[in-house]
Amino acid sequence: MGKRSGIIEMANMAGMQSNTPGVTEIFELMKNDHCNTAGSQVVRDLYDKCSSTYEKRSGIIEMANMAGMQSNTPGVTEIFELMKNDHCNTAGSQVVRDLYDKCSSTYEKETADLAFTGPNQTGIILSDHCPDRNISIVDCGAGSGLVGVQLNTLGYRNVVGVDISQKILEIAEQKGVYKNLFCVTVGEERMPFGDNEFDALVCCGCIAPAHISPSCFPEWVRIVRPGGSIVIVLRRCYVELQKDEEEFYSQSLGESFEANIRHLEDSKKWKAISKKIFSGYLTENGHANDGIGMVFEVL
Ligand SMILES: C[S@@+](CC[C@H](N)C(=O)[O-])C[C@H]1O[C@@H](n2cnc3c(N)ncnc32)[C@H](O)[C@@H]1O
Repeated sequence: MGKRSGIIEMANMAGMQSNTPGVTEIFELMKNDHCNTAGSQVVRDLYDKCSSTYEKRSGIIEMANMAGMQSNTPGVTEIFELMKNDHCNTAGSQVVRDLYDKCSSTYEKETADLAFTGPNQTGIILSDHCPDRNISIVDCGAGSGLVGVQLNTLGYRNVVGVDISQKILEIAEQKGVYKNLFCVTVGEERMPFGDNEFDALVCCGCIAPAHISPSCFPEWVRIVRPGGSIVIVLRRCYVELQKDEEEFYSQSLGESFEANIRHLEDSKKWKAISKKIFSGYLTENGHANDGIGMVFEVL
């Protein structure tokens, strides 16, 4: 995607129209409320901001800035901005799908620039726990296929992938490492798989603000057989407050992550096998961020 056209495009994606004066903009949000902003800070801010210009006001730029979106930020950076400012809980929405569709062609270059080690760590953790290379695996939030490539290199050949973005799945397909790929909004839709269908599920980089919600864990447990493994790799600061990364911490995601893990433990649906904290999940401006790798056994 390279460079992009900024805030107007982004705002259009969120269903807002440019050059729409005053209260018309609020009507646009109402007509296109992909991310269910009812009762949210977005709505409060909109009315706060347009109060003085209620009868005549200044248009979309102000509106989009309020929603925490930045102009002229290319590709994945834009996704980070959404994550930092996810006032309206966009997880599983058209906004997220469109963003990944748009950045699909630059995703790998941008994550390479950030020295993203999540897929590598996912492969290491899975192979430590599941040495049998014949197992069936579902890669949840497969993206462009970086995890699939890693698993293939390690000798796993029975892998399918799911993702919300059809365009990024087309990049994954070109890798030739997945048996099948499915466009699925995890957390919103039932996964297109039978009960106990897989020996393992991996999810790298997708438990994050505006991404896959931990409320999908019971659905993951449904499709993995008893005795099978679930490997979750994520950036630590999304669920645990980290110095210098506070802007990414989401208290609601952190609480939901803990609560959903505990609920499945208490109801004896899975048990935690290991939790690894590792440095260098991403490296930004010379700062190596921590990652978390967790393994659960389905009971
Ligand atoms: C940071 S990328 C990680 C991709 C890949 N696992 C990797 O490690 O490179 C997050 C991925 O999650 C996908 N995603 C976000 N929300 C999703 C949802 N609700 N259901 C399915 N996929 C989702 C995005 O389209 C994107 O491909």
